[in-house]
Amino acid sequence: MTMLTIDDVHTYYGDSYILQGVSLELKPGTVVALLGRNGVGKTTLVRSIMGLTPAARGRILFKGADITRMPTWRIARAGIGLVPQGRRVFRSLTVGEHLQVTARGTGGWTLDRIVNLFPNLGSRMRSPGGKLSGGEQQMLAAARALVGNPDLLLMDEPTEGLAPLMVRDLGQAIASLKAAGTSILLVEQQLAFALRHADLVYIMSKGRIVHRCTPAELSADTETKSRYLGV
Ligand SMILES: Nc1ncnc2c1ncn2[C@@H]1O[C@H](COP(=O)(O)OP(=O)(O)OP(=O)(O)O)[C@@H](O)[C@H]1O
Ligand SMILES: [Mg+2]
Repeated sequence: MTMLTIDDVHTYYGDSYILQGVSLELKPGTVVALLGRNGVGKTTLVRSIMGLTPAARGRILFKGADITRMPTWRIARAGIGLVPQGRRVFRSLTVGEHLQVTARGTGGWTLDRIVNLFPNLGSRMRSPGGKLSGGEQQMLAAARALVGNPDLLLMDEPTEGLAPLMVRDLGQAIASLKAAGTSILLVEQQLAFALRHADLVYIMSKGRIVHRCTPAELSADTETKSRYLGV
């Protein structure tokens, strides 16, 4: 069984036709990278998976169950965690408070394990979100998703705006998550980061998947990289 199956999904914002038949598969325990230039529909796909902007047509299956038209809270409860683009941490809540208000359910991600995964957060438990660096906010956004013990984590451009050292720390966290068996859909603009962590790569352009390959294949494919990623 797949962790996530997206089958011919079409999504609109009002009259704007954004996702024009997207299909994608993610196997349990794997990291799938979703790449593509600005505005091609990556976040819209994440929103459709989460039920925030539901698909108008097509199907989304999570662990074999149809979640296409489920309300967001049920999708989250079923086991999908979201690390949204732009991080969206609460400025006035401390790190500890963030983790307490989102803690839920049973599963492996205790507070201790999360602090182990993101050591920077351990010393910042009493700091308000607004006082954290961009990197710390990103770690917090990921930690906040993990306390819900998701089976699948959707990470929407987690490296955006991060300093290289923070990107490295985040990469280590992703590797640990993967080793712990968490499946990840990693939306990225940083090609090198995606290639380092993904098992499989999908490329989007204008609301469609235009390419699927392994990281090694994409590394060697100058034509595809320049056409769809501008590198
Ligand atoms: N709420 C909205 N209402 C109408 N159009 C929207 C809305 N959000 C996004 N769009 C449009 O949908 C298209 C896809 O946007 P989306 O945010 O999914 O792209 P993206 O691939 O995530 O881009 P980026 O890499 O910049 O985050 C864009 O043309 C964008 O302008
Ligand atoms: Mg986006």
